[in-house]
Amino acid sequence: MRFTILTLFPEFFHSALACAQLGKAVEAGVVRVDLVNPRDFAVGRHRPVDDRPYGGGPGMVMMPGPLAAALRSVAEPGRKIVLTPSGAPLTQDLARELALEPALTVLCGRYEGMDERLLEDEGLTPLSVGDFVLNGGEAAALCLLEAVGRLVPGFMGKGESGDEESFSGGLLEYPHYTRPEVYQGLEVPEVLRGGSHAKVALWRRQASLRRTLARRPELLEGAHLSGADIDYLRGQERPASLGRGLTVCLLHHPVLDKSGKPATVSLTNLDVHDMCRVSRTYELAGVCFVTPLADQRELGMRLLRHWTDGAGGRANPDRANALRLGRMAESLDEAIAQVTEQAGQAPRVVATSARTSYCPARGRKPRAIDFIPAGVVRRWLKQGPVLLVLGTGHGLAPEVLTRADAVLSPVRALAAYNHLPVRSALAILVDRLLGETW
Ligand SMILES: C[S@@+](CC[C@H](N)C(=O)[O-])C[C@H]1O[C@@H](n2cnc3c(N)ncnc32)[C@H](O)[C@@H]1O
Repeated sequence: MRFTILTLFPEFFHSALACAQLGKAVEAGVVRVDLVNPRDFAVGRHRPVDDRPYGGGPGMVMMPGPLAAALRSVAEPGRKIVLTPSGAPLTQDLARELALEPALTVLCGRYEGMDERLLEDEGLTPLSVGDFVLNGGEAAALCLLEAVGRLVPGFMGKGESGDEESFSGGLLEYPHYTRPEVYQGLEVPEVLRGGSHAKVALWRRQASLRRTLARRPELLEGAHLSGADIDYLRGQERPASLGRGLTVCLLHHPVLDKSGKPATVSLTNLDVHDMCRVSRTYELAGVCFVTPLADQRELGMRLLRHWTDGAGGRANPDRANALRLGRMAESLDEAIAQVTEQAGQAPRVVATSARTSYCPARGRKPRAIDFIPAGVVRRWLKQGPVLLVLGTGHGLAPEVLTRADAVLSPVRALAAYNHLPVRSALAILVDRLLGETW
């Protein structure tokens, strides 16, 4: 495989290309690495490669001309990659895909980066090696070279394949041990010293699962897991769910009707059941149904009593567990007061909206909503209680949106239609906030 690296500092690569496995692969011709310096293609006495940015601001920007000329000098460039923190992440899957290419050309940026027109004009693929900023693309290019190059057939020795490594199958790799058998009083796990391949394989699988759960739980979302894996993970200690700080509040007033007028909507049996069951599944603190109508509150309480302490609860104890999370309140203020009493601290109030703007008052111009992402609510949940407020009818009235501490980003905000039933919206929002149990 042929790599061409465009860099203002070719010397950066000299030792890396001459040692260890990469050095051997270069020597054996498994990978070939050509270094091209764009400065050699710059024109003028001082051969400038950068200039000041249009629009002002600090730093310099690499000019497109010398880079384009350097690119044109590469006979068969293959896929052309530019390294930039704003690129798509370089992952093991992508490294596998790139290793199938016959040639790759990699552009290393310096200073503030390069003129954007070069990316468009040359069809460059922007890639990043992580969510941090390096001084230049050279260290990133070495990461790419190592990650891709080692997957080229002939790079690794016989018997090595990379199939069992971290990220293969979506999990982190299990820990390794070698001699001595006892080090600083710590023993190599007994199962690895026995001769059973099946037992070693099971131990390694479970160690991989444990390690991924502890260090990168978000990877489990995309991992290939069997039922046995899930049962094993369920038995592992996990941090307490953030959900225990989250209370849901379903407002039947003040909400809007379909013409945008203030309205009071009736309580529905389905909302009560489904929202309690979602709250139980995600281990939430509770769910409060708010209506100013006394007879509706009485109806709600009868319903909850039936499914908890009444005949319904006795016949279906599983559902009773879920419905026990439900309670009634007369107003948003009362719902806030209930959480404050329960949690010993006033909650942050997070409203929800399917729309991107609201009308502050009749006849006034609509105002854009300043949304917060799910990550902010997660951070708040680490600090204290949160009350997530959803509206029936056609959504929460403006006074609720302005009164809340923040409004959470809508579900399917970019779709032409996103008017979900409120209990579906709750399920999706809670899953976005809390996700799987890892
Ligand atoms: C100081 S950085 C420029 C950062 C740029 N102004 C920004 O904020 O996105 C200079 C060069 O380093 C390289 N670089 C820095 N961080 C990187 C990363 N995480 N992944 C890939 N390349 C990176 C890029 O080639 C970039 O053009």
